[in-house]
Amino acid sequence: MPNLALDGSPPLRSTPFPAWPIYGPAEEEALLAALHSGRWFLADHIESFEREFATFQQAAFGIATSNGTTAIQVALAAIGIRPGDEVIVPAYTFIATASAVVATGGIPVFADIDPDTYNIDPASAEAAITEKTVAIIGVHIAGRPCDLDALGALAARRNIHLIEDAAQAHAAAWKGRKVGAIGHLGTFSFQASKNLCGGEGGFIATDDEALADRAWSVHNCGRSRTGAWYEHPLVGSNYRISEFHAALLLSQLTRLEAQTARRSENAALLTSLLDQIEGVEPLAADERITTHAHHLYIFRYRAEGMSRDRFIEALCAEGIPCASGYRPLYGEAAFAAHFADYPLTSAYFGGPPDYRGVCCPVTERVCASESVWLTQNMLLGPADDMRDIAAAVAKVLAAPKPA
Ligand SMILES: Cc1ncc(COP(=O)(O)O)c(C=O)c1O
Repeated sequence: MPNLALDGSPPLRSTPFPAWPIYGPAEEEALLAALHSGRWFLADHIESFEREFATFQQAAFGIATSNGTTAIQVALAAIGIRPGDEVIVPAYTFIATASAVVATGGIPVFADIDPDTYNIDPASAEAAITEKTVAIIGVHIAGRPCDLDALGALAARRNIHLIEDAAQAHAAAWKGRKVGAIGHLGTFSFQASKNLCGGEGGFIATDDEALADRAWSVHNCGRSRTGAWYEHPLVGSNYRISEFHAALLLSQLTRLEAQTARRSENAALLTSLLDQIEGVEPLAADERITTHAHHLYIFRYRAEGMSRDRFIEALCAEGIPCASGYRPLYGEAAFAAHFADYPLTSAYFGGPPDYRGVCCPVTERVCASESVWLTQNMLLGPADDMRDIAAAVAKVLAAPKPA
């Protein structure tokens, strides 16, 4: 029986995984070019990045924003969200997916996730639709496209918008088409941990010219593309990105394809190795996902005799950094606090929004005892790194369990 690093034995691995972000002279040159241009706002770098990233994601139109949260807010404003409108979001996501709904005056309604994919369950989303629902936000969690066929059909049938939250899904593709503009609008984040990273930054992709024009207006103080500088047909705000971020992102974009391929290769190897270990289970494969962005590599903990949290502690001690991930989002105090004296009635809640009674059983189980997360940079090294991860998982699972 192996002794665990957690109990004081040497760890299985002491080599660090690849550092993130990755940058070099190209990024230095890009930043200096932006600096020396003397044009630090709404200039060539932003224009080029909007064109190049929209093309990369196979979207007709793209608008860069200050971050992924404001990108969702702008997308919701572009579809015309009004106070008290309901937006369906998965219970398993980063808070921005839901807080953006609140920030634009809407009410987030939480749907459960599919236990095989950790993405929003279309049946749960459908059950949450009311006459006040204006949109579903499908999040591509971990870079894995959500079921865009089912969600697209649902949105069309119920005459509501489908927004893709692709904050974690740069380069991901569904049935051969990159995500972002498969729904009505898609949003991205370029925050420091993301697969395409500018420190901060966000993006809205769409094939719909009218939505693109509204999003552009909302992100730029309600101006119009063709109007005067001090003419404001809409109420918007300043959600613009800076030239420096756009310059950095242009050079980071040249690395994305090769990095995505490396992550995919390593993720496939890791999946084949974890498949052979009893007590853990990778998420299910889906042929419709032609590119998984692997912002995270998530697997399911299934073993008995040791809690998932203790397993994570033990794996970290073996030199494999990992985490349990999100908590059920509806349980966050933020929502109860925000809606405490809410003046409007929600059709879904039958009164003011009250999240105390919300329970998504799959999300609850996944968060409490099942999910294990590895970050994307761990997939950027040699194949032997995957063998170390699998060996450490096997070592921890084989260790004697406390009585
Ligand atoms: C699923 C999801 N949506 C939205 C965001 C918000 O992006 P940002 O941090 O750029 O505001 C994130 C970022 O962490 C995310 O993971």
